[in-house]
Amino acid sequence: MQILSDGMVGANFRAAMRKFPATVTVITAVKDGIDHGMTVTAVTSVSMDPPSLVICLNSKTLLHEMLLCQPDFAVNVLSHAQRPLSEAFAGKVEPHARFGLANWRRHEAGMQLLDDANANVVCRRMAAVPYGTHTLFIGQVVHATVAPSTIPLIYEDARYCVSQPAA
Ligand SMILES: Cc1cc2nc3c(=O)[nH]c(=O)nc-3n(C[C@H](O)[C@H](O)[C@H](O)COP(=O)(O)O)c2cc1C
Repeated sequence: MQILSDGMVGANFRAAMRKFPATVTVITAVKDGIDHGMTVTAVTSVSMDPPSLVICLNSKTLLHEMLLCQPDFAVNVLSHAQRPLSEAFAGKVEPHARFGLANWRRHEAGMQLLDDANANVVCRRMAAVPYGTHTLFIGQVVHATVAPSTIPLIYEDARYCVSQPAA
């Protein structure tokens, strides 16, 4: 199917997406005993029955390659104090050195869970849908923990932000 679009649609879409505030997460997985994690904001719930969410990963990333091979991953929701962790897991720090920057515990499914996260959600990949440069990985939730009180780290307008209650 051919879709007609104006020449500015790419730039305008990018600008429009900057107006979508997003919670910053680090997705973790393990393959052949090697831990890996990556900063991801493209995370949203899919269904409560079964409990499931979707993450959207660029197909050029190592995490994408790992999740095609093995099905388990965790979503670690960052708090406002964890901006340095987001930057590290987005490429500022080499993959092998990223986990040394915080405290983690290992889930029985194998991957690392961030100790001071706002929430940890462990998933099993049930579907992988490639589209354009990315793949949507749908995960069924097998375990979830939440911290009692949290202030999330938000990414909005290409900046890290902290949310506030509306007036
Ligand atoms: C705030 C933020 C959000 C990001 N969200 C995503 C995302 O949703 N999906 C994605 O594929 N990459 C996303 N990235 C980019 C990856 O974190 C980045 O490309 C990463 O360094 C590539 O991973 P690797 O070096 O482990 O292969 C995001 C980066 C930042 C800074």
